Amino acid sequence: MNGPATDTPASAPADVSPEALLAGIRAARDQGLAAVAVAATGDELAQVESTLFGRKAALGQIKQGLGSLPPEQRAAVGRALNEAQQDLRAAHAEAADELAASARREQLQREWLDLTETPPGPERGHLHLVTQTTERLEDVFVGMGFTVSEGPQAETDWYNFEALNLPAAHPARSMWDTLYLDLGERTELGDGEGGEASNVVLRTHTSPVQIRVMEVQPPPIYTICPGRVFRRDTADASHMPVFHQIEGLVVDRGISFADLAGTLEEFTSAYFGKAISSRLRPSYFPFTEPSAEFDITCVICEGSGCQTCQRTGWIELGGCGMVHPNVLANCGIDFEEWTGFAFGFGIDRLALMRHGIDDLRDMYTNDIRFLSQF
Ligand code: DAH
Repeated sequence: MNGPATDTPASAPADVSPEALLAGIRAARDQGLAAVAVAATGDELAQVESTLFGRKAALGQIKQGLGSLPPEQRAAVGRALNEAQQDLRAAHAEAADELAASARREQLQREWLDLTETPPGPERGHLHLVTQTTERLEDVFVGMGFTVSEGPQAETDWYNFEALNLPAAHPARSMWDTLYLDLGERTELGDGEGGEASNVVLRTHTSPVQIRVMEVQPPPIYTICPGRVFRRDTADASHMPVFHQIEGLVVDRGISFADLAGTLEEFTSAYFGKAISSRLRPSYFPFTEPSAEFDITCVICEGSGCQTCQRTGWIELGGCGMVHPNVLANCGIDFEEWTGFAFGFGIDRLALMRHGIDDLRDMYTNDIRFLSQF
């Protein structure tokens, strides 16, 4: 195959024997098949093709030598020549098909578009951090046997204040900067006098849900009430006019302050982990007696003292206490038979602390770059 000078018997003078020609045909055929087998690209195969079937092809030259054989010997050599030629053609065609197929496979691979991929576009959303926090809190309390209750965000003065042992003009009302609704003539909102604009408020805390639960459900009661609350406040890094609280209420026989302390401690370690514990400090709320402030170990420094906890190692979470007998009586519950405790704390602040967010307003400006972190 390398050239007529070295291994093409057909180029030899005309006295070549049929045996030598047949050997030459076999050699040319085998070399040709080997050359086809190693051709790795279309170009290489085209090169091989011209060597095999072109003007100077080995078999072609042998064919030219055929004429010098005696006629009776020509047929056998001619047949061998044709067969060799056919074998080479077939091998070449097969190799060409295979190369074309693999070139196509490669092209498909190169140009493959994964149409199942999520097209670039708006990010898939998720629950807001406050909602996530609320759901986690609910999970912990539900795990402790509490139910979840809800109440309206617009409340009458009765539910938001009066039934909670805060009669009109009670000085403690100033603890809640209240937003009043102007409802004009519409009067169908629950108890209270109704009708007067000043009588309906955006609830300033979740405590009115306590009243709504006790009104309809006889004790024993073990419930939490998460929800949105409103205060007349200017937004700053630690205040928002709209925020969220979670209220807890237990009413049963023989409930004591120790049950309150134990429940809050149990909640604290279930929600924050064993490193964080709770403590109660005496305080005042009109709807509880005695009342306490509920602190937890600072979640940032775990009690050693840092900027967040003002070096005290504690963070104030909310208020609590034993439900005031007047409140039980306002809901028709016999306070000689039943006692209870209640607590309430801010959800937004909790989320803020857990995630080291320093400005409460970031939670509500709907900046996707902020929200998508949680
Ligand atoms: N409602 C109170 C507030 O918004 C928090 C609170 C204090 C709730 C004591 C309670 C409680 O249930 O017992 O400031």
